[in-house]
Amino acid sequence: MRGHYNFVFFKKTGRSDSIMLLITGGAGFIGANFVLGWLAGCSEPVINVDKLTYAGNLDTLGSLQHDQRHVFVRADIHDRETLNHLFAKHRPRAVLHFAAESHVDRSIHRPEEFVQTNVVGTFTLLEAARAYWNQLTGADKDRFRFVHISTDEVYGTLAPDAPPFTETTIYAPNSPYSASKAASDHLVRAYHHTYGLPTLTTHCSNNYGPYQFPEKMIPLMLTCALAGKPLPVYGDGLHIRDWLYVGDHCAALRAVLARGQPGETYNIGGCNEKTNLDVVHTLCAALDRIKAKSSGTYADQITFVADRPGHDRRYAMDASKIERELGWRPAETFETGLEKTVHWYLDHPDWVNRVISGNYRNWVELNFKLHPAPRTFFSEIAQGASAKTVWGSMRAE
Ligand SMILES: NC(=O)c1ccc[n+]([C@@H]2O[C@H](COP(=O)([O-])OP(=O)(O)OC[C@H]3O[C@@H](n4cnc5c(N)ncnc54)[C@H](O)[C@@H]3O)[C@@H](O)[C@H]2O)c1
Repeated sequence: MRGHYNFVFFKKTGRSDSIMLLITGGAGFIGANFVLGWLAGCSEPVINVDKLTYAGNLDTLGSLQHDQRHVFVRADIHDRETLNHLFAKHRPRAVLHFAAESHVDRSIHRPEEFVQTNVVGTFTLLEAARAYWNQLTGADKDRFRFVHISTDEVYGTLAPDAPPFTETTIYAPNSPYSASKAASDHLVRAYHHTYGLPTLTTHCSNNYGPYQFPEKMIPLMLTCALAGKPLPVYGDGLHIRDWLYVGDHCAALRAVLARGQPGETYNIGGCNEKTNLDVVHTLCAALDRIKAKSSGTYADQITFVADRPGHDRRYAMDASKIERELGWRPAETFETGLEKTVHWYLDHPDWVNRVISGNYRNWVELNFKLHPAPRTFFSEIAQGASAKTVWGSMRAE
């Protein structure tokens, strides 16, 4: 095995026969929310495999530092040897596969990493899971599940009056990100149909909530608003997304894990179709209420910037299947979820500042000699450049 445990952050449980989950990408936004929620609600341990790219943040998992139910392993999902070792040692009853390159803008500038992680990485993980599952017997084999976390973006874009995406909508991905996720979905499907691996795939709409890296829209707007910087809105701001609070997404995944049927796919959405401009205005209104500026409104900071190439116009989700079959529906409305999110970001300036300054990377870089975080739209904005200038220069690269 190449790296043994490349990095074991928290103490190992030492058990080889324990019932546990193997999570990939559990230091990212949704994966970490899932791990924190899981361990808050039950005693079943989690082995958390994450490469710690720029999007992986161990600060988010700091509250688990002395929790023996959480085993953190720094590893790449391409590393078959390490995956084999982890499956053999910990004998998980399920895999929840969150690890991915997940930011559409980055996929436009550097598509190769998306193909490598989202397609080749998922293939490697599937192979390791299949080899492990093949040698299970009896109840262990029957109960094993591989839950693949995918996105609504694989379905492409919707006309204004078209019905929402269902699980049978034909795939039509439009960005390197969504194309790489679509490819991984097809591999997951094939592993069920060809080998019988008990896979389940979920397609979720846009998430927001605590611990989201501030390159994504809601935390980007929040942090820019509070810093008095421009709020960059793409094009005319009328692109429509369906928004889901991350805690509701995690609850849906727990339902899929517990009651989902192998071979099935489930759409997960918030029934909250909003234009980007509506989202930014709602956010500004919440901030005006909770943390008013000395003069004017946060909406004064809205700045329109050139549109993203190939920008899908509308996504909307029909989540009636998961409600009907698994009894899940979102607990939060967009307004309640957004209010919680605004309070979380205001209450956690240290987490935000360490991300903005890049300090959350220092510890990792010191220990693992990683490359510095790449230049991003967000990092430049955070350092004071104007939205228009940064976007123009990055697109020229
Ligand atoms: N954020 C959303 O709105 C949204 C919506 C629907 C679906 N999804 C999907 O949910 C999953 C999680 O999304 P997120 O927003 O938390 O992403 P994220 O970018 O915040 O986190 C991704 C995590 O994966 C890790 N990772 C990346 N490459 C890896 C590799 N090769 N090996 C091991 N770990 C690796 C990163 O270090 C990071 O911790 C993704 O698969 C994404 O496609 C996200």
